[in-house]
Amino acid sequence: DTGMFTYDPGFTSTASCESKITYIDGDEGVLLYRGYPIDQLAEHGDFLETCYLLLYGELPTATQKADFDYRITRHTMVHEQMARFFQGFRRDAHPMAVMVASVGALSAFYHDSTNIADPVERMVASTRMIAKIPTLAAMAYKYSIGQPFVYPKNDLDYTSNFLRMCFAVPCEEYKVNPVMSRALDRFFMLHADHEQNASTSTVRLAGSSGANPFACVAAGIASLWGPAHGGANEAVLKMLAEIGTPDRIPIYIAKAKDKNDPFRLMGFGHRVYKNYDPRAKIMQRTTREVLAELGVKDDLLDVAIELERIALHDEYFIEKKLYPNIDFYSGITLKAMGLPTTMFTVLFAVARTVGWIAQWKEMIEDPGSKIGRPRQLYTGEKQRDYLPMSKR
Ligand code: SDX
Repeated sequence: DTGMFTYDPGFTSTASCESKITYIDGDEGVLLYRGYPIDQLAEHGDFLETCYLLLYGELPTATQKADFDYRITRHTMVHEQMARFFQGFRRDAHPMAVMVASVGALSAFYHDSTNIADPVERMVASTRMIAKIPTLAAMAYKYSIGQPFVYPKNDLDYTSNFLRMCFAVPCEEYKVNPVMSRALDRFFMLHADHEQNASTSTVRLAGSSGANPFACVAAGIASLWGPAHGGANEAVLKMLAEIGTPDRIPIYIAKAKDKNDPFRLMGFGHRVYKNYDPRAKIMQRTTREVLAELGVKDDLLDVAIELERIALHDEYFIEKKLYPNIDFYSGITLKAMGLPTTMFTVLFAVARTVGWIAQWKEMIEDPGSKIGRPRQLYTGEKQRDYLPMSKR
């Protein structure tokens, strides 16, 4: 036992820790944030309320919510030199590469919130990280399309501010579409935390050494980028586009079942859920609402619904308990909002930042937490003597 992680040779890469933040029942398809079911939070609350809940453990009173919204809103700008920092990237850089670099660079700007031993600095760093991640994400998008950066506006809510920073141009006023803002707010809530997934475990391991939270979140973004994790939403859209029409679905179902074919059905399966991912159900409903209210017809939604119907009746997927996960529908919603596929995982990172920060904070504030040091099962050579070149 290394203090924070309990190593059990029976597991290949599982590290475990104690946490009070998020509970998942993979067999029943249950997800609770601090004990509250995700569907109730998505129905009645908003993303910043969920942020407060994940960080502090209780739903905020009206005063606490107003104070928290105020604190977050007033940290949404980034240091003006970050704009020059972006100029070093190629315009065609993947926005996730830009996010890893720019979030890590925050530790080069905010020296007054990197001393993790100081609770005030921890709170300031947490507030700054949650507040600035949408601004950096919007900057990454604007930079990739050659448009000028848009500053945040303090009279807009968190999600509307993000949409405006992404889509406003100097030539005309931008009016936030409330349908898109509400759908994106729900997207953020659904992706906010998910106990010890790969990227959160990365943040905890990085933070266990005492590294500052900006550097830890940058490590989390790097881990999230992979197609087996947060990169899946981008991969789902590519897969649906490659399938193209419902009549081609059987070809891909067969490929997914073929052990010799590396192809996997993107957006299906999960390390923990062996039942329907509760977030996927809410995401599917949101996708339908957004497409209907925006008057968008997307044939890929028809392919997705038919693919899900066929897969859920296929003995391979039933036997292996493979169900749609949150990434299966999320991309169609983001596409309907006008975001490119390269921004999908960036939005996942924007949402998950509060989960990473809440889990990092919980670990740092645990007096018993130690540096993470997972062990290994050594399967290499036994000790042997050096061989001179003539004998190799
Ligand atoms: C996220 O951890 C989290 O909480 C992550 C996340 C979060 O909020 O942080 O929920 C977000 O990352 C969701 C997952 C997004 N990834 C994808 O959609 C990519 C496609 N899915 C697969 O790559 C896969 O399902 C994983 C990586 C998600 C899980 O892979 P595992 O651990 O192999 O899943 P498993 O052990 O349950 O697999 C059981 C069997 C295996 O076959 P056998 O070894 O038993 O022969 O099912 C197979 C797998 O090969 N399988 C699939 C499959 N997923 C698993 N076969 C075809 N298509 C798939 N999608």
